[in-house]
Amino acid sequence: MTERTTPPTGPDNSTFLTEHAAAIAAAASLIAGHVRRTPTLPADEILPGILVKPELLQPTGSFKVRGAFNAALRLRRLSPDTPGVITVSSGNHGQAVALAARSLGLACTVVMPEGSNPVKVAAVRALGATVVSDGVTAANREERVLALQQRTGLALIHPFDAWDTIHGQGTIGLELLEDVPDLGLLIAPVGGGGLVSGCALAVKAARPEVRVVGVEPELAADAAASRRSGRHERLAAASATIADGLRSMSVGTRGFEVIVERGLVDDVVTVSEEEIERAMVAAWTRLHLVVEPSGAVGLAALLAGRIAPAPARTRTAAILSGGNVDPGLAARLLAIHAASLATGGSPP
Ligand SMILES: Cc1ncc(COP(=O)(O)O)c(C=O)c1O
Repeated sequence: MTERTTPPTGPDNSTFLTEHAAAIAAAASLIAGHVRRTPTLPADEILPGILVKPELLQPTGSFKVRGAFNAALRLRRLSPDTPGVITVSSGNHGQAVALAARSLGLACTVVMPEGSNPVKVAAVRALGATVVSDGVTAANREERVLALQQRTGLALIHPFDAWDTIHGQGTIGLELLEDVPDLGLLIAPVGGGGLVSGCALAVKAARPEVRVVGVEPELAADAAASRRSGRHERLAAASATIADGLRSMSVGTRGFEVIVERGLVDDVVTVSEEEIERAMVAAWTRLHLVVEPSGAVGLAALLAGRIAPAPARTRTAAILSGGNVDPGLAARLLAIHAASLATGGSPP
């Protein structure tokens, strides 16, 4: 599918959904040999009856490989002479694009804000990509990548505001529909909105009655604000949330269209930093799944009772979107919760 350049016409979503669902199905075939088919697992130990989809089991540790491989493979097909790719990332998308580029023999540059999670920076470098960080902040990262892209002629693989990326992420929705025939509620983290938009497109095209709910930190609640106001809201200042994958200043224009203008995401709820931390420790110790802060917000919302349960006789599934935890944060959280864990209790 080519990038949309014209605004949506009218409230009827059926053609829009049909076209995007076809592109998501095509993405699923294209990326199949490059990403893992993750399972859907019960989370009964902490949330009886709830299912989780552990995307932290993907190569590079997050769902981002889905969009990155879809975009890179389509680029190679449509523009075979492309010298390489460039992107901007807090880390997970950068790793995913670096892996896709290496697999396809393309050069790769990743613009990462100064102070990015050092584990993620090291991983991007280890995959052979060039990292550009000098003077890059959460607030200026978009401008910096566009300037660099124009200077170098590299092809931009946007982390969330490009249909190829969104369609790749939407393959998670397809897999959930396959694995959970009685799915009633799908919960996904929201940063730039690519993940939740892709999943909403996949799910609403096939099963419009399934609720799709996004979750973001209270400290980066631009999508919730946009849903409330109907305007494309932007954070006033860079967010300090521990969920480093959810710090984007606003959702992309495509995400805004899907989430707000077309109303394909039923709700966006927020969680506190403490709720995210508690959910992480619960997932590590009780589900044995190493989830990172951005990947834990859905669990956090469920554990804190911030999401209404799925309709009767249907199932709820939460996407655990990534597992690249900063070791310093992991050590701090385990130390804080050590006392309750030693006595066999759940984290407070
Ligand atoms: C682990 C994780 N979860 C969720 C997200 C948010 O995805 P999106 O920007 O598509 O909303 C990110 C983005 O970096 C991420 O790294």
